[in-house]
Amino acid sequence: MVAYAVKANGNLAVLKVLANEGAGADTVSEGEIRRALAAGIPPGRIIFSGMGKTEAELRFALSLPGLQINVESAPELERLSVLAGEANAVADVLFRVNPAVGAGGHAKITTGQAHDKFGVARDGVVELYRRAAGDPSLNPVGVGCHIGSQIADLTAFEAAWMVMRALVQSLRAEGLPVERIDLGGGLAAPYFNQPDPPSPKDLAELAKRVVGDLDCEVSVEPGRAIAANAGVLLSRVIQVNRRAEGPRFLVLDAAMNDLIRPTLYDAFHELCPVESRGGENADDFGPYDVVGPVCESGDTFARDRRLPPLEAGDLVCFLTAGAYGAAMASEYNARPLVPEVLVDGDRWALIRPRPTYEEMLAREDVPGWL
Ligand code: LLP
Repeated sequence: MVAYAVKANGNLAVLKVLANEGAGADTVSEGEIRRALAAGIPPGRIIFSGMGKTEAELRFALSLPGLQINVESAPELERLSVLAGEANAVADVLFRVNPAVGAGGHAKITTGQAHDKFGVARDGVVELYRRAAGDPSLNPVGVGCHIGSQIADLTAFEAAWMVMRALVQSLRAEGLPVERIDLGGGLAAPYFNQPDPPSPKDLAELAKRVVGDLDCEVSVEPGRAIAANAGVLLSRVIQVNRRAEGPRFLVLDAAMNDLIRPTLYDAFHELCPVESRGGENADDFGPYDVVGPVCESGDTFARDRRLPPLEAGDLVCFLTAGAYGAAMASEYNARPLVPEVLVDGDRWALIRPRPTYEEMLAREDVPGWL
């Protein structure tokens, strides 16, 4: 099963595109589960991951038979057991293992190292699994891992999946049934300045080689590899600030609140003009420091970027913005949340309108005692 990681881009229309293709959903909150359901993804194709699920969220998950709960710790298993007992439900449980293999495009998006907060330590899995198998409220179905994001190195996947493989064998040697293995997400998307990462097909071939003979149902949880290059962030040039000395600033109407990846992870996003103005001299091409209007120096998309000539009013496009772009946007500086548009050939639709200022203000209340 391809369980699309809703966090990458959880817009209902995007989820519907994937649901129509038969995808399942990897979710990390009740809100994401509700999104997946609303897009028509049935509970039997929903995985609930996350290392800090609340009681309310676990209760909600238990009300949806067939939904798979990826348990990440012993205390979570205990809480789930009690809640499932109370609800007269049997929870399908898969254990997320911390394989002590880290990988990813940035330290902040690496999740599989021993000191990361995610997953059950490898040595503790068999005992917890046995504990679950003996509990009438729990149905342990398998093991999984997710080691990071923007991973371009197949050997990291291989190392982590070898840990899964060994675990499945140890569990079975104890007579414990293992039906499913969840290989996680994390496959890198090409970001233009980087060499092409391995393809989904390369990853599938690796999976076949490492776990193909285990006779398990296999799931993957890709987010970025599906959504990143399906989306762009469109922005307009407000003005170009030239100083006698120092950087030339390209000031856009998009800002860190719309696309936070450069600020948060020093991420590179290719920027191109929508229409070319030509440009003949080397000086025509900048370089520019590309910035937004937010009142922080961190609101910088790129430094020293060579770009063709641009003027106030021109439209520019940030590429590879479909994953963790709109999904991480905020209204910081009271800037209305970035709108989303779905495009299919020559059809397009506004799938999340920009809120009006009236709507933004109406969401808040001032208590009568002020
Ligand atoms: N499964 C789990 C349990 C995850 O935590 C994640 C991502 C995925 C799947 C999907 O990973 P992907 O295939 O998209 O790499 N905001 C960051 C990325 C954070 C990823 C968090 N977990 C960024 O913009 O780079």
